[in-house]
Amino acid sequence: MDTKRSTTLTKRFQEIYGRKPKFLITAPGRINLIGEHTDYSDGFVLPVAIHLNVLIAMGPIASHTVQIFSVDFEESMAIDLGNLKKGPNNWGEYVKAIAWAMDITGYPLKGWQGVIAGNIPIGAGLSSSAAFQVAITKAFSLVGDVDVEPTKIAQIARKSEIDWVGVKVGIMDQLVSAAGKKDHAVLLDCRSLDFEYVPIPDQASYFVLDTMTRRELTQSAYNQRHEEVAEAARLLGVQTLRDATMEMLDNPSISTSPTLHKRTKHVLTENERVQKFRAAMQEGDLNQMGQLLNASHKSLRDNFEVSSKSLNLFVDLATQQPGCYGARMTGAGFGGCALALVDSKNDRDFITAVSEAYHLKTGIHPHVFKTMSADGVNAIELVHKKED
Ligand code: GLA
Repeated sequence: MDTKRSTTLTKRFQEIYGRKPKFLITAPGRINLIGEHTDYSDGFVLPVAIHLNVLIAMGPIASHTVQIFSVDFEESMAIDLGNLKKGPNNWGEYVKAIAWAMDITGYPLKGWQGVIAGNIPIGAGLSSSAAFQVAITKAFSLVGDVDVEPTKIAQIARKSEIDWVGVKVGIMDQLVSAAGKKDHAVLLDCRSLDFEYVPIPDQASYFVLDTMTRRELTQSAYNQRHEEVAEAARLLGVQTLRDATMEMLDNPSISTSPTLHKRTKHVLTENERVQKFRAAMQEGDLNQMGQLLNASHKSLRDNFEVSSKSLNLFVDLATQQPGCYGARMTGAGFGGCALALVDSKNDRDFITAVSEAYHLKTGIHPHVFKTMSADGVNAIELVHKKED
């Protein structure tokens, strides 16, 4: 847990509510090594929970409300748990959405007060909203005194976003935020929700390359991809694209449109790349890992068409740097961040060189940083001395 931020948050809690918080919750953001836009086709993904996170200082209250202050938005909300109604789209909706999803899943809803703050860039493809949802779910589970296992937390968080917020997300982000493990990637089967931890080879560093671009219409374009893969599966006569094969796709008696053909090709080849990437990680074969990242990017750019000019440029520039094994966009795309796999010996030079190259081409100062892996959501109970 980040001691400085936790201390600041604890102080804010005391200033606002005049008492000390009982719990400190941390829920991480993520990078996705590979397996992009496959989760909502029941495919495979390989994300890593990272050091950037959402923190909540919180404590139970007797009333049936959630009183919460967001440090990032400098705004407080009071949510009546007995009367959950949809409102204007803001961060408070995410809290209501989780309360609703917990409730209909059969968990008790109890009131609490909290202060929340995050350091995951918002809308950058690093799962700031999943971390927020997972942290809030954990808060409800603590005050309700129920043990909600990580997969269930992820399902509740996902349900809240699909059915309340209205974005048809997959399960990847919520699951890794709930179940991530330091020094490991999570190989998740998005159909069965079985997952295994794959150790991250330590000779390599993973850098996030933030293009500093954000795309407003991400939600509608993202929802459109959901519709496209569902339609492709329907035409191919399978439940989801997880069950499709290249033979089906190339069978002349089944007609899909050129667009749906490309979308399907991406999902099928990306699922294969996840398995190959896992094998390469286990062998510590960084060259192979890098090539798979590059191939994934090309497929997202040309077949799934979710990349952007800035992302393509940054990926190109990254792969030209000494010690870079490969790079690709990460997350939903359309803007946001790319990811680069770099030999640890080249860490320092890589940041300077790739940032300057991007600035030279775009006039934009990007944010490039090395990621550290982290554990999934956790909570500590604060023990206060009597005189505190
Ligand atoms: C977003 C969604 C995930 C996943 C990725 C693309 O991050 O929340 O469920 O679909 O996009 O891989």
